[in-house]
Amino acid sequence: MRAGFLRDEEYAEDGEWGVGSGEWKFLFFFWTVMAQSFENIIADKLADKQKQSLLRSLSLLAGIDFASNDYLGLANHFEIAKTAADAYIKHGAGSKGSRLLSGNNKVFEDTEKWLANWKGTEAALIFNCGYSANLGVISAFCDSKTHLFCDQLSHASILDGYAMSKGKLHRFKHNCHLDLEKALQKTGADSFKMIVAEAVYSMDGDVAPLGEYADLAEKYGAMLYVDEAHSDGILGPGGKGLVAQLGIENRIHLSLTTFGKAYGTMGACVFGSKLLIDYLINHARSFIYSTAMPPGAVIAMQKAVEVASRESFRRESVLKMSENFRKKIIEAGFNCLQSETQIVPVVMGSIDKAVKCRDFLLENEFNAACIRPPTVPTGTARLRINISAAHKEDDVKRLAETLIRWNNF
Ligand SMILES: Cc1ncc(COP(=O)(O)O)c(C=O)c1O
Repeated sequence: MRAGFLRDEEYAEDGEWGVGSGEWKFLFFFWTVMAQSFENIIADKLADKQKQSLLRSLSLLAGIDFASNDYLGLANHFEIAKTAADAYIKHGAGSKGSRLLSGNNKVFEDTEKWLANWKGTEAALIFNCGYSANLGVISAFCDSKTHLFCDQLSHASILDGYAMSKGKLHRFKHNCHLDLEKALQKTGADSFKMIVAEAVYSMDGDVAPLGEYADLAEKYGAMLYVDEAHSDGILGPGGKGLVAQLGIENRIHLSLTTFGKAYGTMGACVFGSKLLIDYLINHARSFIYSTAMPPGAVIAMQKAVEVASRESFRRESVLKMSENFRKKIIEAGFNCLQSETQIVPVVMGSIDKAVKCRDFLLENEFNAACIRPPTVPTGTARLRINISAAHKEDDVKRLAETLIRWNNF
């Protein structure tokens, strides 16, 4: 091999470095075959999903929407939208960077103070969404000496946070504090332990035994992190969530509120002590290495909380409609698991049955989410009916009747 740089034309004629035209043809052919086989592999993977009725695709909404997480019907609330629009005009469309570089803004600091005060914690940290918050929080605290304890039905964002971490994972039976305790007992007394629980489970609509988890966290010296994605805005005084409803605010170390669900906007906020929030500012990669939200979106978050707290009729109506709906379809023989909230699973068992029922509802102008494995355990494919304060009582009643009609076919 020659030392030094070659001019362009030298590459072509040099035996060791250059490539003749026949070789180019071969390389081109080789590259084409490789490219095709790469595409074939991907196409086969999608075809496999299709065969199992697991292929996801995007579609536009049709029918009355029972799939959205807009539980309080705030996504189209004029006051929130107007506040956001005015704030975008005033502050611009973007934040210009990560908060640790140029993206910080007084809007974030004021809103975090306001939100921390609302939740009754020392500090708060805004993330771009709940997914990003869970990635950031869990991977930040789980180093190689950490034991992470989470429910078998944990949301993907929690598991993905773990996947980014170096910790050791222990999964306990769904909502079972006894199984959690067994797992805690097996880890060394001086290891760092983190328990992560969702207050309301997104695919089951049931409520976690947070009081028991808090007892265990105290007994075993563990940190307790509660994801209130589906409980905030709905449960607790003023919609402050399940932790507030149970009065255990002082026994929880960190909690998460998402704003893309009951609050109808977007973004997320993690609440905790100043120490823990400072730690996250230094270790949560999804916070550090990502452009901050536009200030207008942050202002909308606060406005949504103000409106939701004030308009308590939304919480009351969504919970009442959910209860009536559940009662009616359980009486007709449907399995709604342990749902107690606005999320009502209707378990079908097989994927095929769930898809057929979803299609039947669509023909009758109801849009419900068809949830399949691996999002839920095998054999528990289901429709997930999300009730919203935006629904009319009659819509909910007609949906129940349509489901019952389908069951009787
Ligand atoms: C329990 C739970 N945590 C976090 C998230 C992610 O929140 P976001 O939609 O704000 O990213 C979800 C979303 O569905 C969720 O169900």
